[in-house]
Amino acid sequence: MKSKGRFSAEWISSLKTAVSLVEIVGENVELRKTGNRFMGRCPFHGDRSPSFSVNAEFYYCFGCKETGDAISFQMKLHGLSFEEACEDLAEKAKIPLPEGTALSSEEERAFALKRQRVQKAARLNYFAALNFYHQNLVRGSGSPMFEEAREYLKKRGINAATTEKFQIGIAGPGYEGLTRFLSDAKAPLDLAREFGLIRASQKQAGDYDFFRERLLFPLIDIRGRVTGFGGRIMPSAEARPQEVKLPKYLNSAESELFQKSKFLYGLYQAKLAIRESECAIVVEGYFDVISLHQAGIENVVAPCGTSLTEDHLKTLGRIAKKIIVFFDQDEAGISATRKSMEMALKTGVLLYGIRFDSTLDPDEFLLADPKGNLEKLRGWIDSATPLLDSSIERIFSESENNLEARSQAIKTAVGWLASFGDPVGRSVRVSQLMERWRVPREALGMLAPESGVRGPARAGPPPGRPPREPSPAPSAHRRRPIPVSDRQLLQFFVKFSKFGKFFLMARQELHEKNTLPDLFDDTEVRQWVKGLSEDPAGIPRLAHAPESVIQGEVSQELRSVIMEGLLQEPVAGEEQVLSGLLKRAVFKAWVRFSHELKAEMVAADSRQDIEKFRELSEQFLDLQRKLKEFEDSYVSGKTD
Ligand code: UTP
Ligand code: MN
Repeated sequence: MKSKGRFSAEWISSLKTAVSLVEIVGENVELRKTGNRFMGRCPFHGDRSPSFSVNAEFYYCFGCKETGDAISFQMKLHGLSFEEACEDLAEKAKIPLPEGTALSSEEERAFALKRQRVQKAARLNYFAALNFYHQNLVRGSGSPMFEEAREYLKKRGINAATTEKFQIGIAGPGYEGLTRFLSDAKAPLDLAREFGLIRASQKQAGDYDFFRERLLFPLIDIRGRVTGFGGRIMPSAEARPQEVKLPKYLNSAESELFQKSKFLYGLYQAKLAIRESECAIVVEGYFDVISLHQAGIENVVAPCGTSLTEDHLKTLGRIAKKIIVFFDQDEAGISATRKSMEMALKTGVLLYGIRFDSTLDPDEFLLADPKGNLEKLRGWIDSATPLLDSSIERIFSESENNLEARSQAIKTAVGWLASFGDPVGRSVRVSQLMERWRVPREALGMLAPESGVRGPARAGPPPGRPPREPSPAPSAHRRRPIPVSDRQLLQFFVKFSKFGKFFLMARQELHEKNTLPDLFDDTEVRQWVKGLSEDPAGIPRLAHAPESVIQGEVSQELRSVIMEGLLQEPVAGEEQVLSGLLKRAVFKAWVRFSHELKAEMVAADSRQDIEKFRELSEQFLDLQRKLKEFEDSYVSGKTD
């Protein structure tokens, strides 16, 4: 089922009316009122001076040209899907989600009910995380383990503010602490069971707590929902002799709410820093995220004990340009790094890596020398390089004097390049292989032709998947920039309610075969104006729903011109400027018309249609005279 279809157009428009865009943006950006709009520093690019403009309907950045409405702001800033953004805005605006019962099909109703259940489960998790586990850690006295947890965190260098920010908690040794707490609070125990907080006892009636004797890390997703928990065994429990060794970390079971392969720990706390730096650092463990964050490196996340997946990349790719993998330098970490790199290559993404050769994990490394090592880390992060390049470098230098190892290295490197979905990135590396590492042409034969190797024909099928082209950018590209005169004119045109009468007057001066769009020179602009003026609701929409007129197939440049026009403040003398522009536009329309006439004359002449030719030349002469007049008045108009 298409997720977007779950919300009707009416519901979406009522959502947009209910939320305040200025307020939504204001939660993330410091805004100052200037004229009839608000300005702030753009959250979508490294903006030094305020270029981000917001009014009641839409936002627009004069720097990076980002634009949209409340829903798209929420989507882009927080990396959400359309549906998720709508749900979050509805919650903020306190308007109910469309009722399951209002939906047409059985399937849709079931889907809506399920989502409501999931949302409820997230609230229940949050309730347990905050009011039970976290409270016990911060001020609980019911068990000696609470005190042990406070000491443990202190020993690991985690302070109170960080504990709070990550909502860290403690699950004590008892079997029914949480179960009792939830049932006293009349919380829905069926949900607690279904989403893994408690379990039904096999031996007797009732439930027992799933997490015991563990430090708990709430798994908060990008939207701030507590999807589950990761629990680290407490040292005293670990030290106790056990029949079966307890796992060091235990995560909530997978559910509709928590999917290990999609989840990134710390993303909620890191997202603004990632957005700002356009860079995300991926570490291995919960403690690494927390320690780096506390030390001021806030753009850090971790998968829950897996290597990176395509879903992780997708999520990070929405808010970061560069992704740095910073796993432990042990065997497991090195192999996870390589797996992640290979997976990313196939989707055309270059992961970055840093020069880190300590046997400690990032968290221990920081704790060993908080000041000095933080500086080192920052330096390494700043000089991160693509893992593909460091990996090629490593396998080639390690095989310097060993022919068999070298041939393996070549095969590995060629395999990586063959799967890399970026043809340009691939071709520069192929050149490097040939020049720096003296890899013979024949050895590169299995690469696709566009890799830049004009070697022999392919020797057999390429290893793994064939290289994929990155998907072409939609529309958005123009061959020539929009001429200045059209830009200026269009910026008046979009304020049609104010300046429309001038355009309608100018239109009267055109040839009867010409229409409003013919006042513009540029083909794309003319098409856009044509579309708008042919749609009866088009021009009124400029005034009432301006953001809607730029949706669909317009180039980035045209979109910017329109947005900037809509946002311009009135200035003195603008009507004279417009009159001048229109006079010139009318003149140019006639010039264009005379070219057309000339072409018709040539055609009539070549088919020896003397009658037609004579008629056309009369018109043409008339037109030349008219143009001369225009020109004179235009020149004199310009000099006064
Ligand atoms: P590590 O074993 O490196 O743990 O696992 P750590 O983060 O260094 O923990 P401390 O510092 O000893 O307390 C890295 C990550 O792998 C996952 C967890 O997400 C952990 O943070 N993991 C590890 C599990 O899911 N289960 C395990 O049993 C161990
Ligand atoms: Mn560790």
